[in-house]
Amino acid sequence: MTDRYAVIGNPIEQSKSPLIHTAFAQVTGQDIDYGKLLGPLGEFAATVDAFRASGGRGMNVTAPFKLDAFAYATDLAPGALMAGAVNAMKFEGDRVLAENFDGVGLVRDVVHNLGFPLQGRRVLILGAGGATRGALLPLLAEQPAELVIVNRTVAKAQELAALAHRHQSGQVPVTALGYEAVQGVFDVVFNATSSSLTAELPPLPASVFASGCLAYDLTYGKGLTPFLKLAQQAGVTHLADGVGMLAEQAAEAFVWWRGVRPDTKAVIQKLTVPLE
Ligand code: ATR
Repeated sequence: MTDRYAVIGNPIEQSKSPLIHTAFAQVTGQDIDYGKLLGPLGEFAATVDAFRASGGRGMNVTAPFKLDAFAYATDLAPGALMAGAVNAMKFEGDRVLAENFDGVGLVRDVVHNLGFPLQGRRVLILGAGGATRGALLPLLAEQPAELVIVNRTVAKAQELAALAHRHQSGQVPVTALGYEAVQGVFDVVFNATSSSLTAELPPLPASVFASGCLAYDLTYGKGLTPFLKLAQQAGVTHLADGVGMLAEQAAEAFVWWRGVRPDTKAVIQKLTVPLE
């Protein structure tokens, strides 16, 4: 019997999840149907209840429902707890298991697909919102030499640094700074702000990029964002946007639901928007 899954959001037209999961199902031979669900605002729980009642097995969750899903879940995995948000749910009887795979997807893309091990590296992450929060533990698990969180509103970066210190088992130094205080060079620089959605440039000194460094914008599909352009002009040749992260977080959900890991190469190739 065909198992049903869906992504819920509002708006939802833009979501690539059905395309990705349908491609994964084809290559792994899984019999699933994966649709798009427009969730009326304020009616998350009722919409998900109805989907479950009609036999739905799992869901991805996108804006603006990641916190609603957090509240709806009966079993929050550590990744979801740490991120403070849910992007994948699995339904088992009365239980709603909830996960957040954005951070692990990011790290898998960087380390596995792009070939940039993070161990012993100096890592800079711009932004202190949900994207950074979700990436924190997976990044720290890679044991970088240090992690610096930079944000316009320094207090938010400080909160995340404190959270990181409370939760990590290793001893990676995590520092919170304002942009004007950033010093030195970094091996990997992530843009986890929402600046690229509005074609804005975070006030980052171009001197932060070490030679051979990776500049990674977590935003997907915006081409050469102002952040990536800054990096390119500073001589960085390893530029990436969030297409691989998008595919890898989906792959993590797919493994969780179906027990088989799909290869992401073809999907990444298909969804890649040139960085120009
Ligand atoms: P998300 O969940 O996508 O991370 P968010 O929680 O609203 O979204 O956080 C957005 C992040 O992008 C914040 O860190 C924000 O900085 P402030 O906390 O100082 O507002 C950052 N941001 C948004 N636009 C930015 C810009 N033009 N330059 C630098 N940082 C920006």
